[in-house]
Order: sequence, then C-alpha cells, then structure tokens
Amino acid sequence: MSKRSCLSIILAAGEGTRMKSSKPKVLHEIAGLPMVAHVVAAARSAGGGDVAVVVGHGADAVRNALTRLSPAPETFVQAERLGTGHAVLAARAAIERGHDDVLVMFGDTPLIEADVLSEARAQLAKGAAVVVVGFRPASPAGYGRLIVVDGKLVAIREDKDASDAEKQIGFCNGGLMAIAGKHALSLLDKVGNANAKGEYYLTDIVGIAAEAGLDVVATEASAASVLGINNRAELAEAEGIWQQRRRREAMLSGVTLVAPETVYFSHDTEIGQDTLVEPNVWFGPGVKVAAGARIHAFCHIEGASIATGCDVGPFARLRPGADLHEKAKVGNFCEVKKATVEKGAKVNHLTYVGDARVGAGANIGAGTVTCNYDGYSKFFTDIGEGAFVGSNSSLVAPVSIGNGAYVASGSVITESVPEDALAFGRARQKTLPGKGKSLRELRASAAAKK
Ligand code: UD1
Ligand code: CA
Repeated sequence: MSKRSCLSIILAAGEGTRMKSSKPKVLHEIAGLPMVAHVVAAARSAGGGDVAVVVGHGADAVRNALTRLSPAPETFVQAERLGTGHAVLAARAAIERGHDDVLVMFGDTPLIEADVLSEARAQLAKGAAVVVVGFRPASPAGYGRLIVVDGKLVAIREDKDASDAEKQIGFCNGGLMAIAGKHALSLLDKVGNANAKGEYYLTDIVGIAAEAGLDVVATEASAASVLGINNRAELAEAEGIWQQRRRREAMLSGVTLVAPETVYFSHDTEIGQDTLVEPNVWFGPGVKVAAGARIHAFCHIEGASIATGCDVGPFARLRPGADLHEKAKVGNFCEVKKATVEKGAKVNHLTYVGDARVGAGANIGAGTVTCNYDGYSKFFTDIGEGAFVGSNSSLVAPVSIGNGAYVASGSVITESVPEDALAFGRARQKTLPGKGKSLRELRASAAAKK
C-alpha cells in the first residue's frame, strides 16, 4: 500500500429524481448497505485515507446514515447544484490540508472496487497529475467521452457538448478521478461553466491539465465497476452484480453453494469454510455462520449467529438475536428470535422460540410456542439442559423449565417446572366405551329425517 496520503471525496449531492423515492438516491441499499457506504468502504480499502462526502439534497438523512459508519466520514454541503467541479470544491477545506492524492468518486456508483482506485493512485505515484478511469459502455450516450490524441488523453467532452464525430467515441468517463493533491485546487479553480449545461464540470480539469503540460492518464475499468445508479432497475442490476461477486468470493473461500444464484448475502455476512448452503437462502444483515454448518433450503436468516456443526432448516427463520451454539438444530417451520439454543439442543419442527434460552441437549417438541408477549411487554423463558418439552406445548413466560424436566405434550405451562420434574398442564383424558358408535347413530338418524 502506498505511503502517500490520500483524501477521498465522494459526491452525493444529487437529487436522484428518477428513483421516484422519498429518500435520497445514495441511501438506497445494495446488500442492505446504502450505496454511499459501499463507496466509502471501497475508498477505505484502497487506503483512501480521509473520506469526505459532499451532501446536498437530503443532507440530514445522508449525514445521519454516515454517522453509523466507523469512523464516520466528514461531510461538506454543496448548497446549490452547480456541477461536479463545483461539488468537489465544497470540500475545499479538506483539499487545503494538502494530501498527496485526491480521489473523486460518485456516491451513486456503488460497485467501484478497491483495486480500480489503487491503480489510479499508482498512476499518481508515477507522476500523473490527473487520472481518469475510463470504461467502454454498451451504449456511450450520456457519458463524457475521452478525447485521446496521439495516445494521450487531452480532454473529456460531455455528451451534451460533443460533436457528432466525438459522439462516436466509445471510451467514456466512468466518473472516477484521481488528482495529484499539489495540483488539485489550481486545476479546479480554473473550471468555468461555459458549456451546454451551464455547469462547472469536474471533467474540464483534464483539458486544463493537458494544456498546462501536466501528465494526464486514462486507465480502464469494467463497465460493472463504474455502473451508475439512476433508477430502481439499475439498482437491481447493481444488486445482482454485487451478489454474483459475493457468491463467488464465498465459494472460493470454501463455502459450498449448491445453487449460488439463489443465495443472497448481506454486505456483512460472515460464513465459514465447509459450510453448505442449499438453494434459496436469504442472509439479512448481521449474520455470522461458523465453519462446517449446514443451511438447508428456504431459510431466512438475519442478525443471527450459527456455530460449527449446526443444522438449520429447511424453511427456518432466524431473527435478530438468534444464537445457535455448536451442533444445535433448528428445523423446518421454526422461528427463533433473541434466543440462545445451546450445544446440541434440538428445535426441529413447527416451533416458535423467542426471548428464551434452550439449554444444551434439550429437545423441544413439534409445535411448541414460547408465549413471550402480552401485548405490552416481552418475557423470558428459560429451558434447562436436557429438558424435554412435549409437542404442542405453550410455555407462558416468564417461566422456567428446570434441567432434565419433562413437559407433557399439549401442556400450557404457566408455572415454573423444577429440575427433573414432570409437568402436565392439560385436562385429563376421559374415554367412554361404545359412546362413539351411539353418537354416530344419533347423528345419522337426525340427518335422515331432514
Ligand atoms: C458525469 C460525468 C461524465 C461521466 C458520468 C459517469 C461530469 C461533468 N460528467 O456525468 O463525464 O461519463 O458522470 O457516470 O462530471 N453531483 C453533485 N453535485 C453537482 C452535480 C453532481 O454532487 O452539482 C454528483 C451527483 O449526485 C452524482 C455525481 O455527482 O453522484 C455525477 O453527477 P451527474 O449529474 O450524474 O453527472 P453525469 O451527467 O452523469
Ligand atoms: Ca450520472
């Protein structure tokens, strides 16, 4: 990693009206994380140093989302939307601190990869004054074209200002730029707004630098890594690309995905080697899966921790605070919320365990429900080690079941059960010999009279 100091400026003042949304564009999420936070993360992993975000439309909401990052990036306000060059200068105070490298990124380009940024910085280290990350889109309309003369980048022409000949150029500006810190302010201050949009174009610094005899370089990135998001169709496209990358990374790190295209990860999913994930599994935010677990088909998992050797699903829902210790089992149509399922415990069928502890080796029968809520407050259920809860039981919290205790099937347990006790919480069965037959005859003759 370069020893040069770096400032990353992320432009996020745009309105994004084509998202048709009440929230600012850059707060729309990819893999559960706002787009702008993806850009911050890429900047940081490329050694992007100090990160400054230029906010405008929806400034408070964007700032608020950024405070959740650690460390939170600095923000600057661009009060009027006068163009990308003007937006960069909103962070003038940060630029004046005199970093070696200044990276400029867009908050709506969430798939930018750290190595694209690192490559641009490497060009600065070799003496370039300005580095432009170019790409070749399927259709160049709308993008700034890179004007290359005798192998040298001499200008960027914005679509609206381009001649017909220039519009034929397929090599375009991806929107990412690296500027040598010592030239940054003098270049930016020379940008004017005499163009088709009447905006201060950041891209004009390329021509300004080239005319001043400074070294200007274009690198090339894949179209995916500079994909800009303007509407929700592009948002979904970016999500798809992100998921593809993450699945591949998971598989290369030793996770088996039987049908990778059906597994959805979150930005922060951690998943260990030799874990097997069957088709159609959703990982929401905050999930940690250790090595050697099995996640069967159709599970929905968020905010949960799954230890080694656990078996989850098919059709299990793990909600925030589900903490499965080694070799625990949570089977089909079970929901676990804010509950610990200790080592080797089994919650296998049609069960709700919420605000609870299930002790090591305990067995929870089919259809058990921890009744944890009275409409106002939540209460805790504690199930001891090796306890056995018979099928179709309701455990009305607050309540505890002692170690090794038995709960008879179909019980409604409202009082705590001591260690090793057997509790029945249901009416006794009454059996009347022959009464079934006489009842049937009675019903049949009544029906015949109708
Ligand atoms: C920009 C580039 C173009 C490039 C394209 C890549 C310029 C002048 N043009 O065009 O060469 O091919 O991106 O997608 O830079 N923003 C502000 N304040 C402003 C204006 C913009 O913060 O006053 C932010 C926007 O929120 C957005 C980014 O800058 O995140 C780019 O602005 P946008 O208007 O989308 O630029 P393009 O016309 O797409
Ligand atoms: Ca754009």
